[in-house]
Amino acid sequence: MNTLIGVGVGPGDPDLVTVKAANLLAKADVVFVPVADTGETGRAEQTVLFYAEAWRVERVVFALHDREHTARREQAWDAAAAQVARWFAGHPDTTAAFATIGDPCVYSTFTYLAASVRDAMGELEVGLIPGITAMQDLAARSGTPLVEGREALSLFPMTAGADRFREALTRGDAVVAYKFGRMLPETLAVLRETGRLENAVYGAGLGLTGEDIRPAADLDPDEPGPYLSTLIVPPVRTGRGEGLR
Ligand SMILES: C[S@@+](CC[C@H](N)C(=O)[O-])C[C@H]1O[C@@H](n2cnc3c(N)ncnc32)[C@H](O)[C@@H]1O
Repeated sequence: MNTLIGVGVGPGDPDLVTVKAANLLAKADVVFVPVADTGETGRAEQTVLFYAEAWRVERVVFALHDREHTARREQAWDAAAAQVARWFAGHPDTTAAFATIGDPCVYSTFTYLAASVRDAMGELEVGLIPGITAMQDLAARSGTPLVEGREALSLFPMTAGADRFREALTRGDAVVAYKFGRMLPETLAVLRETGRLENAVYGAGLGLTGEDIRPAADLDPDEPGPYLSTLIVPPVRTGRGEGLR
């Protein structure tokens, strides 16, 4: 039986790879890594190369920077699935890992890939190994508890529009924003409008060279951010243990 395992390799720091993930990366017959069509080393690839020799790493080109669900993205998933299926055809009864930044169940390309490979091959065992997400890394690095007691947490891709983000902020929940990059000025404007800017923290390129962690209030309100940036807006708390009541 062929096995395809989606493995989370964390946000950037190779020390944030779990032991289970490191063990798989060290022994898998091949480790697929998603890369853009620019030829640059991929984000997941950089971390994978700490644990797997380059000859076991195979690049899969994805339309990583297409923001919408476009025909180009669909074609990239089909081509990627065909590449993985071809690999299994040439290496029956093997284990392939597919590395993804953060966790493979949080906005990851792995979900689409596994479904397409199974469609192409018929029989395929699929597994998942969790990874540390960017929001967890930012919470730890900035000393920001995400949720306590009865507090709720919402995670937003800003590409889905600002309305539900605004709603959750208005309720006072803990809110994390992903995928805002170019929409950073608009995202900051909603934080200001809802009175939640003051305690928000921003982290860009976590675990990578040039990493930037700072209070969101210190950001230039007109300057877009990089794609790999995350915002944590802690819940409205009035005192110690407030969330436990
Ligand atoms: C397609 S999602 C992938 C999420 C990832 N699977 C996870 O579990 O964190 C990409 C978004 O994750 C966030 N992200 C991932 N890695 C990051 C990093 N090293 N620094 C800051 N944000 C990051 C950014 O918000 C980025 O737009």
